[in-house]
Amino acid sequence: MALYAIGDLHLSLGSNKPMDVFGEGWDGYVGKIAAGFAALTPDDVCVLCGDLSWASSLDKSVRDFRFISELPGKKLIMKGNHDHWWSTAAKISAFFETHGFSDMSILHNNCFLYGDKAICGSRGWTIEDKLDASHNDKIIRREAQRLNISLEAAGDAPEKLCFLHYPPIFNRSRCDEIIDVMRAHNVKRCWYGHVHGAGHRYAVQGVVDGIDYHMISADYIGFTPRKICD
Ligand SMILES: [Fe+2]
Ligand SMILES: [Fe+2]
Repeated sequence: MALYAIGDLHLSLGSNKPMDVFGEGWDGYVGKIAAGFAALTPDDVCVLCGDLSWASSLDKSVRDFRFISELPGKKLIMKGNHDHWWSTAAKISAFFETHGFSDMSILHNNCFLYGDKAICGSRGWTIEDKLDASHNDKIIRREAQRLNISLEAAGDAPEKLCFLHYPPIFNRSRCDEIIDVMRAHNVKRCWYGHVHGAGHRYAVQGVVDGIDYHMISADYIGFTPRKICD
């Protein structure tokens, strides 16, 4: 049994949205994802860090989730900025149940225990400053709050692992509201996705102020889930 994570599967099996906008690395990516998951077993757990499906509604996402469900392992599903199919946790859970996707759970305002570790996370928010500042501040506050709820749900778990969709640090920018929540809960390791193609070169990884950051966007890690621990 092992814990894995990968972000940004960007599936569009029901709509055929071209992925070349993200660069040549996405050629044949669905097959690469299937091959990348081949090392996992049904007992393994994989955190999917957002941008799962281009579908605009749950109904339109069935083929994408069937593909995900047929990959080995249990999946913890997080929200990314492109997950327009996202609904309430109750509706998503009912959708999974209706279609027999019994290997999937939503990581949103909650946490999951994995041995002595807690799997926590939230979408986070972009740190590009092109948006209206007051709008930005409101979303960042809400995302920081969600992350806090998730980390508080972990109680006194010896280690709290943090998964985000957006990078909390990118290039020379930082999202201090999110970082402060992680530090308040003594998070030491954080995984994030969202960054693609030419953006990879601006990723910040390694230890910054006591937190070890890892980028796990699918195209960055060869569409192969990154093993975190046994
Ligand atoms: Fe994204
Ligand atoms: Fe993405």
